[in-house]
Amino acid sequence: VLIFEKPSEMSHRVARRIANLIEERQAVGQELVLGLPTGSTPIGVYQELVRMHQEEGLDFSNVVTFNLDEYYPMDPESLQSYHRFMEENFFNHVNIPESQIHIPEGDIPREEVERHCIEYEHAIEKAGGIDLILLGIGRSGHVGFNEPGSSRQTRTRLIILDEITRKDAASDFFGEENVPQEAITMGVGTILDADEIILMATGEHKAPIVREAVEEEANRSVTASYLQDHPNASFYLDRAAAGE
Ligand code: GLP
Repeated sequence: VLIFEKPSEMSHRVARRIANLIEERQAVGQELVLGLPTGSTPIGVYQELVRMHQEEGLDFSNVVTFNLDEYYPMDPESLQSYHRFMEENFFNHVNIPESQIHIPEGDIPREEVERHCIEYEHAIEKAGGIDLILLGIGRSGHVGFNEPGSSRQTRTRLIILDEITRKDAASDFFGEENVPQEAITMGVGTILDADEIILMATGEHKAPIVREAVEEEANRSVTASYLQDHPNASFYLDRAAAGE
Protein backbone atom coordinates (compact mmCIF):
# COMPACT_ATOMS: atom_id res chain seq x y z
CA VAL A 1 0.00 0.00 0.00
CA LEU A 2 1.41 3.37 -1.01
CA ILE A 3 -0.09 6.53 0.43
CA PHE A 4 0.34 9.90 -1.30
CA GLU A 5 -0.37 13.35 0.10
CA LYS A 6 -2.24 14.44 -3.01
CA PRO A 7 -4.08 12.61 -5.83
CA SER A 8 -1.82 14.37 -8.35
CA GLU A 9 1.27 12.77 -6.78
CA MET A 10 -0.39 9.38 -7.12
CA SER A 11 -1.26 10.00 -10.77
CA HIS A 12 2.25 11.19 -11.61
CA ARG A 13 3.80 8.13 -10.01
CA VAL A 14 1.55 5.77 -11.95
CA ALA A 15 2.15 7.62 -15.23
CA ARG A 16 5.91 7.49 -14.63
CA ARG A 17 5.72 3.72 -14.02
CA ILE A 18 3.87 3.26 -17.32
CA ALA A 19 6.29 5.50 -19.23
CA ASN A 20 9.26 3.53 -17.86
CA LEU A 21 7.68 0.24 -18.92
CA ILE A 22 6.92 1.59 -22.42
CA GLU A 23 10.53 2.70 -22.85
CA GLU A 24 11.97 -0.54 -21.47
CA ARG A 25 9.94 -2.52 -23.99
CA GLN A 26 10.82 -0.17 -26.83
CA ALA A 27 14.51 -0.68 -26.12
CA VAL A 28 14.10 -4.41 -26.81
CA GLY A 29 11.56 -4.04 -29.64
CA GLN A 30 8.60 -5.43 -27.68
CA GLU A 31 5.00 -4.37 -27.09
CA LEU A 32 3.60 -3.35 -23.72
CA VAL A 33 0.11 -4.67 -22.93
CA LEU A 34 -1.92 -2.49 -20.57
CA GLY A 35 -5.28 -3.10 -18.91
CA LEU A 36 -7.13 0.19 -18.50
CA PRO A 37 -9.98 1.47 -16.33
CA THR A 38 -12.48 4.29 -16.66
CA GLY A 39 -14.02 6.42 -13.91
CA SER A 40 -12.85 9.69 -12.41
CA THR A 41 -9.88 8.19 -10.54
CA PRO A 42 -7.58 7.41 -13.53
CA ILE A 43 -8.18 10.73 -15.34
CA GLY A 44 -5.08 12.31 -13.75
CA VAL A 45 -2.95 9.41 -15.02
CA TYR A 46 -4.30 9.83 -18.56
CA GLN A 47 -3.68 13.59 -18.43
CA GLU A 48 -0.09 13.07 -17.32
CA LEU A 49 0.54 10.46 -20.04
CA VAL A 50 -0.91 12.82 -22.66
CA ARG A 51 1.37 15.58 -21.36
CA MET A 52 4.38 13.25 -21.59
CA HIS A 53 3.43 12.44 -25.18
CA GLN A 54 2.92 16.07 -26.20
CA GLU A 55 5.78 17.69 -24.30
CA GLU A 56 8.36 14.93 -23.96
CA GLY A 57 7.62 12.89 -27.06
CA LEU A 58 6.67 9.70 -25.19
CA ASP A 59 5.91 7.25 -27.99
CA PHE A 60 2.92 4.90 -27.57
CA SER A 61 3.28 3.03 -30.86
CA ASN A 62 4.25 -0.22 -29.09
CA VAL A 63 1.36 -0.07 -26.61
CA VAL A 64 -1.56 -2.52 -26.75
CA THR A 65 -4.57 -1.81 -24.54
CA PHE A 66 -7.51 -3.76 -23.16
CA ASN A 67 -10.20 -1.89 -21.30
CA LEU A 68 -11.76 -3.52 -18.28
CA ASP A 69 -15.42 -3.05 -19.01
CA GLU A 70 -18.34 -1.39 -20.79
CA TYR A 71 -22.00 -0.95 -19.94
CA TYR A 72 -24.50 -3.21 -21.72
CA PRO A 73 -26.33 -2.22 -23.75
CA MET A 74 -24.36 0.85 -24.74
CA ASP A 75 -23.93 2.74 -27.99
CA PRO A 76 -20.22 3.59 -28.34
CA GLU A 77 -21.15 7.14 -29.42
CA SER A 78 -23.30 7.75 -26.36
CA LEU A 79 -22.19 10.29 -23.74
CA GLN A 80 -21.78 7.63 -21.06
CA SER A 81 -19.98 5.00 -23.09
CA TYR A 82 -16.53 3.90 -21.99
CA HIS A 83 -15.47 3.97 -25.66
CA ARG A 84 -16.18 7.64 -25.73
CA PHE A 85 -14.58 8.21 -22.32
CA MET A 86 -11.34 6.56 -23.45
CA GLU A 87 -11.23 8.47 -26.72
CA GLU A 88 -11.85 11.83 -25.09
CA ASN A 89 -9.55 11.32 -22.13
CA PHE A 90 -6.72 9.37 -23.71
CA PHE A 91 -6.79 7.66 -27.11
CA ASN A 92 -7.47 10.81 -29.19
CA HIS A 93 -4.38 12.48 -27.72
CA VAL A 94 -1.69 9.78 -27.99
CA ASN A 95 -0.35 7.59 -30.82
CA ILE A 96 -1.61 4.11 -29.94
CA PRO A 97 -2.52 2.48 -33.28
CA GLU A 98 -6.27 1.87 -33.44
CA SER A 99 -5.75 -1.83 -34.19
CA GLN A 100 -4.01 -2.17 -30.80
CA ILE A 101 -6.94 -0.77 -28.80
CA HIS A 102 -9.56 -3.15 -27.36
CA ILE A 103 -12.74 -2.24 -25.48
CA PRO A 104 -15.66 -4.60 -24.78
CA GLU A 105 -18.49 -3.83 -27.20
CA GLY A 106 -21.72 -2.73 -25.61
CA ASP A 107 -23.69 -2.56 -28.86
CA ILE A 108 -23.67 -6.18 -30.01
CA PRO A 109 -26.82 -8.32 -29.96
CA ARG A 110 -27.39 -10.28 -26.78
CA GLU A 111 -26.96 -13.65 -28.49
CA GLU A 112 -23.44 -12.62 -29.53
CA VAL A 113 -22.27 -11.40 -26.14
CA GLU A 114 -20.95 -14.74 -24.94
CA ARG A 115 -18.90 -15.25 -28.10
CA HIS A 116 -17.60 -11.68 -27.86
CA CYS A 117 -16.44 -12.30 -24.28
CA ILE A 118 -14.60 -15.47 -25.30
CA GLU A 119 -12.95 -13.60 -28.17
CA TYR A 120 -11.91 -10.82 -25.80
CA GLU A 121 -10.13 -13.37 -23.62
CA HIS A 122 -8.48 -14.89 -26.70
CA ALA A 123 -7.27 -11.48 -27.84
CA ILE A 124 -5.62 -10.91 -24.45
CA GLU A 125 -3.98 -14.32 -24.66
CA LYS A 126 -2.81 -13.68 -28.20
CA ALA A 127 -1.23 -10.39 -27.10
CA GLY A 128 0.82 -12.41 -24.59
CA GLY A 129 -1.24 -11.48 -21.51
CA ILE A 130 -1.52 -8.17 -19.68
CA ASP A 131 1.75 -6.73 -18.35
CA LEU A 132 0.23 -4.03 -16.16
CA ILE A 133 -3.40 -3.48 -15.29
CA LEU A 134 -4.67 -0.28 -13.68
CA LEU A 135 -7.80 -0.44 -11.57
CA GLY A 136 -10.16 1.86 -9.76
CA ILE A 137 -12.51 0.59 -7.07
CA GLY A 138 -16.26 1.02 -6.84
CA ARG A 139 -18.00 1.60 -3.51
CA SER A 140 -19.34 -1.96 -3.80
CA GLY A 141 -15.71 -3.11 -3.77
CA HIS A 142 -15.79 -4.02 -7.45
CA VAL A 143 -12.80 -4.00 -9.76
CA GLY A 144 -13.84 -3.63 -13.38
CA PHE A 145 -17.51 -4.41 -12.90
CA ASN A 146 -16.92 -7.58 -10.86
CA GLU A 147 -19.68 -7.02 -8.36
CA PRO A 148 -19.92 -8.75 -4.96
CA GLY A 149 -20.32 -12.49 -5.42
CA SER A 150 -17.86 -12.74 -8.33
CA SER A 151 -15.53 -15.68 -7.82
CA ARG A 152 -11.78 -15.62 -8.21
CA GLN A 153 -12.02 -17.73 -11.37
CA THR A 154 -14.40 -15.49 -13.35
CA ARG A 155 -13.47 -14.48 -16.92
CA THR A 156 -14.84 -11.79 -19.24
CA ARG A 157 -18.64 -11.97 -19.11
CA LEU A 158 -21.95 -10.14 -18.87
CA ILE A 159 -22.87 -9.25 -15.28
CA ILE A 160 -25.73 -7.51 -13.48
CA LEU A 161 -24.76 -4.25 -11.83
CA ASP A 162 -25.05 -3.80 -8.09
CA GLU A 163 -27.50 -1.26 -6.73
CA ILE A 164 -24.79 0.93 -5.18
CA THR A 165 -22.92 0.98 -8.52
CA ARG A 166 -26.05 2.11 -10.37
CA LYS A 167 -26.63 4.81 -7.73
CA ASP A 168 -23.07 6.08 -8.13
CA ALA A 169 -23.52 6.20 -11.92
CA ALA A 170 -26.90 7.95 -11.72
CA SER A 171 -25.57 11.48 -12.22
CA ASP A 172 -23.72 10.45 -15.41
CA PHE A 173 -26.99 9.11 -16.80
CA PHE A 174 -29.27 11.93 -15.55
CA GLY A 175 -31.12 9.56 -13.20
CA GLU A 176 -30.69 6.07 -11.82
CA GLU A 177 -33.53 4.76 -13.98
CA ASN A 178 -31.39 5.42 -17.08
CA VAL A 179 -28.35 3.48 -15.85
CA PRO A 180 -28.05 0.15 -17.70
CA GLN A 181 -28.75 -2.94 -15.59
CA GLU A 182 -25.81 -4.84 -17.01
CA ALA A 183 -22.21 -4.56 -18.14
CA ILE A 184 -19.50 -6.59 -19.85
CA THR A 185 -16.42 -6.89 -17.67
CA MET A 186 -13.11 -8.72 -17.56
CA GLY A 187 -13.35 -11.33 -14.82
CA VAL A 188 -11.47 -11.46 -11.54
CA GLY A 189 -9.38 -14.30 -13.02
CA THR A 190 -8.61 -12.17 -16.09
CA ILE A 191 -7.39 -9.34 -13.84
CA LEU A 192 -5.36 -11.60 -11.54
CA ASP A 193 -3.54 -13.05 -14.58
CA ALA A 194 -1.84 -9.67 -15.17
CA ASP A 195 1.84 -9.54 -14.21
CA GLU A 196 1.40 -6.33 -12.25
CA ILE A 197 -1.68 -4.67 -10.75
CA ILE A 198 -2.08 -1.09 -9.53
CA LEU A 199 -5.39 -0.22 -7.86
CA MET A 200 -5.90 3.52 -7.35
CA ALA A 201 -8.35 5.15 -4.96
CA THR A 202 -8.81 8.73 -3.88
CA GLY A 203 -11.24 10.54 -1.61
CA GLU A 204 -12.77 9.75 1.77
CA HIS A 205 -15.87 8.14 0.21
CA LYS A 206 -13.58 5.24 -0.79
CA ALA A 207 -11.97 4.84 2.67
CA PRO A 208 -14.42 2.23 4.08
CA ILE A 209 -14.22 -0.07 1.04
CA VAL A 210 -10.44 0.34 0.78
CA ARG A 211 -10.14 -0.74 4.42
CA GLU A 212 -12.22 -3.83 3.70
CA ALA A 213 -10.26 -4.70 0.57
CA VAL A 214 -6.87 -4.31 2.27
CA GLU A 215 -7.49 -5.42 5.84
CA GLU A 216 -10.25 -8.05 5.74
CA GLU A 217 -9.49 -11.54 4.51
CA ALA A 218 -9.87 -11.94 0.75
CA ASN A 219 -13.51 -12.75 0.08
CA ARG A 220 -16.05 -12.62 -2.72
CA SER A 221 -18.17 -9.84 -1.23
CA VAL A 222 -15.36 -7.34 -1.94
CA THR A 223 -13.75 -8.44 -5.17
CA ALA A 224 -10.84 -5.98 -4.79
CA SER A 225 -9.76 -8.06 -1.76
CA TYR A 226 -8.66 -10.85 -4.15
CA LEU A 227 -5.69 -8.64 -5.01
CA GLN A 228 -4.15 -9.57 -1.65
CA ASP A 229 -3.20 -12.96 -3.09
CA HIS A 230 -1.49 -11.52 -6.18
CA PRO A 231 2.33 -11.48 -6.00
CA ASN A 232 2.67 -8.01 -7.54
CA ALA A 233 -0.37 -5.90 -6.67
CA SER A 234 -0.32 -2.45 -5.04
CA PHE A 235 -2.93 -0.08 -3.72
CA TYR A 236 -2.07 3.54 -4.53
CA LEU A 237 -4.10 5.79 -2.23
CA ASP A 238 -4.33 9.43 -1.32
CA ARG A 239 -4.51 10.28 2.41
CA ALA A 240 -8.30 10.50 2.33
CA ALA A 241 -8.84 7.05 0.77
CA ALA A 242 -6.37 5.60 3.27
CA GLY A 243 -8.18 7.31 6.14
CA GLU A 244 -9.63 4.15 7.66
C1 GLP B 1 -17.04 2.22 -12.50
C2 GLP B 1 -16.01 1.43 -13.30
C3 GLP B 1 -14.89 0.95 -12.42
C4 GLP B 1 -14.36 2.11 -11.60
C5 GLP B 1 -15.46 2.64 -10.70
C6 GLP B 1 -15.03 3.77 -9.78
O1 GLP B 1 -17.90 1.38 -11.83
N1 GLP B 1 -16.56 0.30 -13.98
O2 GLP B 1 -13.86 0.38 -13.22
O3 GLP B 1 -13.26 1.72 -10.84
O4 GLP B 1 -16.49 3.11 -11.54
O5 GLP B 1 -15.16 5.01 -10.42
P1 GLP B 1 -14.52 6.35 -9.90
O6 GLP B 1 -13.06 6.26 -10.22
O7 GLP B 1 -15.19 7.43 -10.69
O8 GLP B 1 -14.78 6.43 -8.45
